[in-house]
Amino acid sequence: MSLIPYALSRALLFRLDPEAAHDVTIDMLARTQNTPLACTYSQPRVDDPVTLAGLRFPNRVGMAAGLDKNARCIDGLGAMGFGFVEVGTVTPLAQPGNPKPRMFRLPSANALINRMGFNNDGLDAFLANVQRATFRRKPGMPLLLGLNIGKNAATPIEKATDDYLIGLAGVYPHADYVTINISSPNTKNLRALQSDEALDALLGAIAAKREQLAQQHGKRVPIFVKIAPDLDEEQVKVIAATLLRHGMDGVIATNTTLSREAVQGLEHAAETGGLSGAPVLAVSNRVIRQLRAALGRDYPIIGVGGILSAEDALSKIDAGADLVQIYTGLIYRGPELVRQSAEAIKKHLQPSTNER
Ligand code: FNR
Repeated sequence: MSLIPYALSRALLFRLDPEAAHDVTIDMLARTQNTPLACTYSQPRVDDPVTLAGLRFPNRVGMAAGLDKNARCIDGLGAMGFGFVEVGTVTPLAQPGNPKPRMFRLPSANALINRMGFNNDGLDAFLANVQRATFRRKPGMPLLLGLNIGKNAATPIEKATDDYLIGLAGVYPHADYVTINISSPNTKNLRALQSDEALDALLGAIAAKREQLAQQHGKRVPIFVKIAPDLDEEQVKVIAATLLRHGMDGVIATNTTLSREAVQGLEHAAETGGLSGAPVLAVSNRVIRQLRAALGRDYPIIGVGGILSAEDALSKIDAGADLVQIYTGLIYRGPELVRQSAEAIKKHLQPSTNER
């Protein structure tokens, strides 16, 4: 149990501008991780191992990408009890992202809108930070690490594959899994990469590069593809078939939504960007259900979008997800949500063991 109730930290953080609060939190985690002060946010890691895509996840709850874009606080996030932490999205070159303000709270909806635009320090700085993380050197620390890659804003969309291949080659030796992010709404045309021929070409190139990297490094690193919630059933089916055709190892569903239906009339609802948090739960779960139907029982699906409670986490498992991730829920509920979700999933999936 963490020493400081999250409600107290939240009250202070919510007095700051959302991005300033984010930056303060990341700085605090980066400074205090691996020190005694980490007890202020540490949570026990629920022990509920599951093997998926050849990886043994210590439990089914992960940190979603985008909070720690530069991989500065992997150990600190790991201390919150996540079974896996995904950092990035990183682009080959550093870039500033969109002008500020670009992150907004919609507290009455337990939601955020962001149009960060992949602000990050670039691949070299990212990899240096990843290598500084100590979790792999700690005995009994089973955390898994996902590295999430994207394209630079200045790279024309026709050349997007080049950026992904640079990213893949860079992160490959350091990742337990790699995520191909083609679903941010904040990089022009990025989501077009989800459509038939573009996706086929991109994943074909990625699969070929992976074969080469697997030879070179003597290990086959699983690749997951992260998709948007704003897709109809036909599009989901095409994506599912393309993932299977190219031997991708899993899908992460979903990123933020462009829809504002659930937040109409609220302050900031009209801001450009991706909406995350509670309003995304139902639409993400719909995509997860459609993916499960299209991909069959055994294909790894990571469900993300709108988990604000343990019940929300269970709704993703029931929709067909094997694992879940959380971002906005961590901002609104704090690290306890991680343990609560992992415990609830463990109990849900092992009812007979727990009743004994
Ligand atoms: C994100 N998300 C995100 N995803 C990603 O793959 N790469 C990224 O860089 C980011 N950046 C990012 C920034 C901010 C401020 C937010 C709120 C979200 C999306 C995130 O990982 C997740 O898919 C969605 O937010 C939905 O989950 P939650 O937040 O409802 O739990």
